[in-house]
Amino acid sequence: MPVYSEKVMEHFMNPRNVGEIEDADGVGEEGNPVCGDMMTFYIKVKDNRLDDVKFKTFGCGAAIAVSSMVSEMAKGKTLEEAMKITPRSVANELEGLPKNKFHCSNLGAQALNKAIQDYLSKKKAKGGKE
Ligand code: FES
Repeated sequence: MPVYSEKVMEHFMNPRNVGEIEDADGVGEEGNPVCGDMMTFYIKVKDNRLDDVKFKTFGCGAAIAVSSMVSEMAKGKTLEEAMKITPRSVANELEGLPKNKFHCSNLGAQALNKAIQDYLSKKKAKGGKE
């Protein structure tokens, strides 16, 4: 049983921003075929900022804590700032993750990134209009 930081336990027991945004501007899904865990991030964008971020995670405790932390870190950030959220910065904010659980933080950062890419490509398809 890996040893988790208090912060990980706290986010796992009481995850923030769980749910789905029905009219999301961007959706990003990421999974790990080895452990079978899945994460989906939903974002709402306003004036180039992440106005709202929600997630649904089917996964281990670390994956849930990571999703919660990523959603908190991303909310209110500009798209450029949010794209700089890395698995390492998420793990740091969670006061560390056990080595064999580090891939869980990859999932979180990648799912958020995919949601932002989804938003950007939709925007491009619409010719840059909101
Ligand atoms: Fe795979 Fe946590 S064990 S995401």
